[in-house]
Amino acid sequence: QILDATGLHILPGAIDVHVHFRDPGYPQKEDFASGTAAAAFGGVTTVFDMPNTLPTINNAEALADKHKIASAKAYVDYGLYAVLGEDSIEHVDALIDGGVIGFKLYMGNTFGRIPSPTTGAMLEAFEVVSPTGKRISLHAETNSIMERREARLRASGRIEPIAHLAARPAVVAVEAVARAAILAEWTGARIHVLHISSAAELQPLAEAKARGVDITGETCPQYLLLDETDYDKFRGVVRVNPPVREKANQQPLWNALMDGTVDMIATDHAPHAPDEKTRPDIWTVDCGFPGVETQMPLMLTEINKGRATINDYVRWSAESPAKIWGLYPRKGTLTVGSDADIVIVDLKREWTVDDAMIQSRAKISPWHGRKASALPIHTIVRGRFVMKNRILQEKARGTGQSVHAIQQMPPAMPANTDSTMAAITSVQKA
Ligand code: NCD
Ligand code: ZN
Ligand code: ZN
Repeated sequence: QILDATGLHILPGAIDVHVHFRDPGYPQKEDFASGTAAAAFGGVTTVFDMPNTLPTINNAEALADKHKIASAKAYVDYGLYAVLGEDSIEHVDALIDGGVIGFKLYMGNTFGRIPSPTTGAMLEAFEVVSPTGKRISLHAETNSIMERREARLRASGRIEPIAHLAARPAVVAVEAVARAAILAEWTGARIHVLHISSAAELQPLAEAKARGVDITGETCPQYLLLDETDYDKFRGVVRVNPPVREKANQQPLWNALMDGTVDMIATDHAPHAPDEKTRPDIWTVDCGFPGVETQMPLMLTEINKGRATINDYVRWSAESPAKIWGLYPRKGTLTVGSDADIVIVDLKREWTVDDAMIQSRAKISPWHGRKASALPIHTIVRGRFVMKNRILQEKARGTGQSVHAIQQMPPAMPANTDSTMAAITSVQKA
């Protein structure tokens, strides 16, 4: 195959460690074919799919069923998460044998209403997963804080979209990150903080890293590019957990990506159907919106503006996720040659995001109308075109593979003892 890439840039395909492809369970929102097609158009060659489908992926049978669905439909490579909760602690070994890429622990309520473990159950879960070396990804919002606030706001009759932000102030996330970091420190568990939305969360994250906790973090385009003014513009469409916050949070998040406090960009691609996003009562609007297809163009638009370098972007979008989940160098770099996952992008293409044109079934997002100056033109997974000249390669359907087979996590971290914790406590006091 001869390809003219004159004037284009060749980058490693992006690895998006946080997508919701809704399969099985919610075909009106997305399925594995539409979701991975959207990924292909977005230059994303590997996705990690979240377990809040129907049924919830919290046992080996449900995981095996999802593997079948994904392998039949996927255009790009994928990893599958399983829920780590009170009812799945006993299934951890079976889930690992069944090929999970990692575990997802819900510290707070979000779409799918998966119960949050108590702190005691979380400690137990961390203890069980820690020796396996698998990473635990956290929806780090503390249930008890936000549920009480939301109930009070609802009771007061507040239905303007911005009330959603008031229901989940940053302290809800700060408390959760700090608590999870303490439990990870005791148990040696590896953890990953999903969708970091606020400047305030960066402090417990940076402190835990400095103490040697194996903690990583992601932020998403919505927290880097959207702010409180978008609630007026997009109403319920911009509603997402955690919420889009005030503009003052954006630059600290960019700085944290630059200095490595935040390791990567993921999208939290969370599609919902238009009627589910436009209900008049804001509290009944489903939270989340698509993003897997627009992450690369929108982030590269910021790179074009000089916000960071293209090497920074490759680190955040491909190299760091590959290293952190033990896929490097099979994924996350071009150096593997003909087996590489590649995106060929035009960094001089002016266009405007149009919800009607996106591959995702959820044709509604707060990205609508946004100007971009970059566009993926070809996407190649393990040497095979999945998107060529902005056309989906139908024959690539079902060629995506689960990456758990190539995952090599480093040996498990040792758990701390009471004496090492005492030393840590004295450092914190000093
Ligand atoms: C996600 C979804 O819809 O599954 N929604 C969201 O607002 N982010 C769940 C989640 O990631 O919390
Ligand atoms: Zn979440
Ligand atoms: Zn999510």
